[in-house]
Amino acid sequence: MNSLLKNLKIMFIMFQIYLILNTERNVYSMRNLMSPLDFSVAELDALMDTASDIIANPDKYSHACDGKILATLFYEPSTRTRLSFEAAMLRLGGKTLGFHSADSSSATKGETVADTIRVVSSFADICAMRHPKEGAPLVAAEKSSIPVINAGDGGHHHPTQTLTDLMTIRSLKGKFDNLTIGMCGDLKFGRTVHSLISALVRYTNIKFVFISPKELKLPEYIKEHLDSLDNVEYKEVSKLEDVIGSLDILYMTRVQRERFFNEEDYVRLKDFYILDKAKMALAKNDMLVLHPLPRVNEISSEIDDDPRAGYFRQVRYGMFIRMALILKLLDITV
Ligand code: CP
Repeated sequence: MNSLLKNLKIMFIMFQIYLILNTERNVYSMRNLMSPLDFSVAELDALMDTASDIIANPDKYSHACDGKILATLFYEPSTRTRLSFEAAMLRLGGKTLGFHSADSSSATKGETVADTIRVVSSFADICAMRHPKEGAPLVAAEKSSIPVINAGDGGHHHPTQTLTDLMTIRSLKGKFDNLTIGMCGDLKFGRTVHSLISALVRYTNIKFVFISPKELKLPEYIKEHLDSLDNVEYKEVSKLEDVIGSLDILYMTRVQRERFFNEEDYVRLKDFYILDKAKMALAKNDMLVLHPLPRVNEISSEIDDDPRAGYFRQVRYGMFIRMALILKLLDITV
């Protein structure tokens, strides 16, 4: 009897050691998504393949995340990103929890992002975080025991918007190489633009045309990076009409009121570009118009029914690529 108890005790201790080692291994091999460059081109291709398979076979994935919980920690407003993350998890059979503004969280009482993520790690299996401060999701990732996804940090990066944009370009243009891509609007603060440029430069023979008023030009550090690359050409212009005819893709962006220090500058620049039927008449027949949305005035609703307008299809691709991302970061194979 004594030896049976002794053996049981040893087995119990060994089981505890196995659990500890297994948990540690999971934490150390855990992936986060802070920037589009966190994934190789091959990994991005695989992610888009999964998203395409989800589109073709939704039922196959409808219980993939049974029992899993996604936390959405949004310290800044969002419609698409937060709801598409939630829709993605729900369509995978999982559940969601979270907050949609800093005001409705204990951030108002002074709780740090580092403490918040430690707490949320006890409740959820994966987390998407949006924050007005650059680097906040990275601080969270360093303290987290669950995968953290950067859902937009200040004017820095928005990697899941980039995954959305890549998925849309692949689905609607069929390629990434040999494209001339115009980026128009707020290129200074536009995190979607910064993230997308960093992802696209990994493809062959990319030409960028940066279209902005002088106050909202692309930051110097990004142009310096582009200058160091052999496979990328770029030019900067201020008039959309002068270049629209040369573009394969036109990526429009909103002038972001929330990033301006004074209202006067915002009012002066907010309607600098308005894409309308007259300008679309100058574009190629197969030019694709993308926009991360929300739009304000920069795309007239009169072109929403133009077959070249891809921005609402883009939103839907965003949900499918986020489903693929959740599966990847949770290490779930279907
Ligand atoms: N594109 C995007 O990030 O939209 P939301 O701000 O609505 O999430």
